[in-house]
Amino acid sequence: MKHELVEKKIALMGALIAVVISVGGLVEIAPLYMQSSVIEPSPGIKPYSALALEGRDVYVREGCYNCHSQMVRPLPAETERYGHYSIAGEAVYDHPFQFGSKRTGPDLARVGGRYTDEWHRIHLTNPRDVVPESNMPGFPWLAERTLDPAGTQTKMQALQKIGVPYTAEEIAAAPEAVRNRTEMEALIAYMQGLKFYGEPKAADGSAKGQK
Ligand code: HEC
Repeated sequence: MKHELVEKKIALMGALIAVVISVGGLVEIAPLYMQSSVIEPSPGIKPYSALALEGRDVYVREGCYNCHSQMVRPLPAETERYGHYSIAGEAVYDHPFQFGSKRTGPDLARVGGRYTDEWHRIHLTNPRDVVPESNMPGFPWLAERTLDPAGTQTKMQALQKIGVPYTAEEIAAAPEAVRNRTEMEALIAYMQGLKFYGEPKAADGSAKGQK
């Protein structure tokens, strides 16, 4: 019996298991590389401005993702609180994406426009000045450190190589856009841009007003 052969030869069985898992994996993964909803940019989404891009790097460097996700799940408890659930096309220019998995603090994917720049400045300097019960650490040094204009251009060129559509003019203008700006200003610019840019859709795919 052929089946007996497979059961007795562990190497053969292992090889066949690998084949089966590979085919199953491909069937799951391959369509994701072709579906337009996954690979195409959300309508309205643009590459980060030079200042926001620097702010995003501050966000990564300071480890904000250790306490904040940027991924709203399609569940009422989340959409009622944060806004439209996250869609793949919003993250096409995010390298690396900041979905995160830990929520010591709230999700930040829709925080843009929720507070004023001044609120963010106070909150980042000492969160307890605006949210007395907050256990978020302060990041006061961000207001004292200025950005490196030469670095911004290099970052934009690197992103351009991997498909972010920065124009030559945008890259040329980058150093002036960040010169003498602080890391805190950059981080705030980044957070104010965290909004929903897609076409609002209900879970069943029909059009729906954004919460
Ligand atoms: C140790 C965990 C921790 C870290 C690290 C942290 N946060 Fe927070 N964050 C919180 C908590 C808890 C709250 C809720 C209380 C509050 O508003 O301060 C919060 C709230 C916020 C809010 C308000 C969100 C809202 O919808 O009200 C923003 C904006 C924010 N954090 C940004 C940041 C940024 C930017 C960084 C990195 C520079 C950061 N956080 C790092 C824990 C953290």
